[in-house]
Amino acid sequence: MTDLATFVAGLPKAELHLHIEGSLEPEQMFALAARNRIAIPFRSVEELRGAYSFSRLQDFLDIYYQGADVLRTEEDFHDLAAAYFDRAAADHVRHAEIFFDPQTHTDRGIPFQVVVDGLLAGMAGARAKHGLTSKLILCFLRHLDEDAAFATLAAAEPWLDRIAGVGLDSSELGHPPAKFARVFARAGEMGLRRVAHAGEEGPPAYVHEALNLLHIDRLDHGNRSLEDAALTTRLARSGMTLTVCPLSNLKLCVVDDIDAHPIARMLRLGLRATVNSDDPAYFGGYVNDNYRALIPGGMLDAGDFATLARNSFLGSFLDDEDVARHLAALDAYVDASLS
Ligand code: ADE
Ligand code: ZN
Repeated sequence: MTDLATFVAGLPKAELHLHIEGSLEPEQMFALAARNRIAIPFRSVEELRGAYSFSRLQDFLDIYYQGADVLRTEEDFHDLAAAYFDRAAADHVRHAEIFFDPQTHTDRGIPFQVVVDGLLAGMAGARAKHGLTSKLILCFLRHLDEDAAFATLAAAEPWLDRIAGVGLDSSELGHPPAKFARVFARAGEMGLRRVAHAGEEGPPAYVHEALNLLHIDRLDHGNRSLEDAALTTRLARSGMTLTVCPLSNLKLCVVDDIDAHPIARMLRLGLRATVNSDDPAYFGGYVNDNYRALIPGGMLDAGDFATLARNSFLGSFLDDEDVARHLAALDAYVDASLS
């Protein structure tokens, strides 16, 4: 039998919570700044990395939006996505559903087309190079208003056959899901899947709103759902997937101690939890780093890690046939590793 770290690293898996702008590594940020002749307020990669110390979500968001300013051309967005997919493939990610934040770019004059065509080219390249499939999820920035979200949805219309769904991200506190009920209803009518960040910093009431008013297909983070027993039961009974991000939770002080991360409790409560990297360039690691970070706590065994990987395919927006194919490969890997 292989050791647990090797077993976990080799598990075929899907990644369901990844902000592509959050995969911009400091080295790539400097390279793009040089290519685009942009000055950045840090002298070195080390100094930039040293600034990645956060005590809440907003501390991170301020630096994350600033970092995205080096992304200017279709080639930049392609290169960003290509670098992420190379790392994901090395972590045995077979399928990724990636978030992008168009308003971060359109608000500084970068056309929607530049962003989306660059990302789509990166996605096509990953399929050809690694056999890694992917889907795109357009996130609305919740600190902006409803009109801006509607304008972004309108801008996306020519690409609707290549965008799987909409999401909701950015500053959670003070921006409840209810603010976006109408734009999510419209997205649903347009045939898009719906996901939302809720219960990362926000209270369980925000998770209720995401379910009742946004009609989400998947819950991003959802940690604070555990404070509400009836909500936890509802999520478990409905088979709702939670895209949990352990290292993000640690870096943003959503949890104080990685060894006491609630993901084991989530599994015991029957929640369909998954492991994801959120913003890997800022939070200290890609998806396998997130799986590995859960080993020392000793709360999860090989079977639990296999369940987490299984949940990642079950919670994806792949069709049933593709899910079944990935699960069969996962079962074969588990059987071969544990015998
Ligand atoms: N945007 C990028 N990462 C995010 C996170 N963890 N929460 C909210 N918005 C985000
Ligand atoms: Zn996120």
